[in-house]
Amino acid sequence: MSPIIQRLTRHHASAYRALMLEAYRLHADAFTSTVSERETLPMGWWERRLDSGPDPDEVVFAAVEGEKLLGVAGLSVQRRSKARHKSTLFGMYVPLAHRGRGIGEQLVRAVLAYAQAQPQLLLVQLTVTEGNSGAQGLYARLGFKTFGVEPLAVAVGQGFVAKVHMWHALSKADAPR
Ligand SMILES: CC(C)(COP(=O)(O)OP(=O)(O)OC[C@H]1O[C@@H](n2cnc3c(N)ncnc32)[C@H](O)[C@@H]1OP(=O)(O)O)[C@@H](O)C(=O)NCCC(=O)NCCS
Repeated sequence: MSPIIQRLTRHHASAYRALMLEAYRLHADAFTSTVSERETLPMGWWERRLDSGPDPDEVVFAAVEGEKLLGVAGLSVQRRSKARHKSTLFGMYVPLAHRGRGIGEQLVRAVLAYAQAQPQLLLVQLTVTEGNSGAQGLYARLGFKTFGVEPLAVAVGQGFVAKVHMWHALSKADAPR
């Protein structure tokens, strides 16, 4: 049975929380959030992130098999009037046991399709830790272009990692050129 890609709702908050805490724990290099920062947040914080109102600040897509989440990726949109054409892909994670099956690709495609359908959005940005060639290669294959590398972006352990910044233009017929 192949997983279905769907947008998560408050109902999934507990499973989503568990998956993201696993991601922060196992991949401290890849995520800016830490387990200790996030595990103390109330369940309402996770529920709000998944709130399915008509014009949400954030949406999360997941590969779902029965009750299990096999991978997740989110999109946050900017609200300020001068930046509301921009959005950011965040929190992309597929547990080791489910990697290499195309789930990551399907999740990025779902995020891009959602962004494409939002009339005000012209682009999706993301950051990926320098050296995370698997994730960076996946994003590049799906059309993301690198526009810079941020040195000393995130403190990890005793050192720092750099972040590669990437973006993907959305094709809008009436977009300014
Ligand atoms: C990055 C990540 C999300 C990718 O997830 P994934 O589900 O393995 O991604 P995909 O399966 O779509 O693609 C991964 C590779 O598997 C290959 N693949 C896809 N479908 C496949 C299939 N059916 N059979 C074999 N290989 C397949 C892809 O070609 C791809 O190869 P590439 O890395 O050489 O491009 C996952 O590795 C992960 O969660 N890593 C840890 C956290 C992380 O780094 N997150 C990103 C933060 S920016």
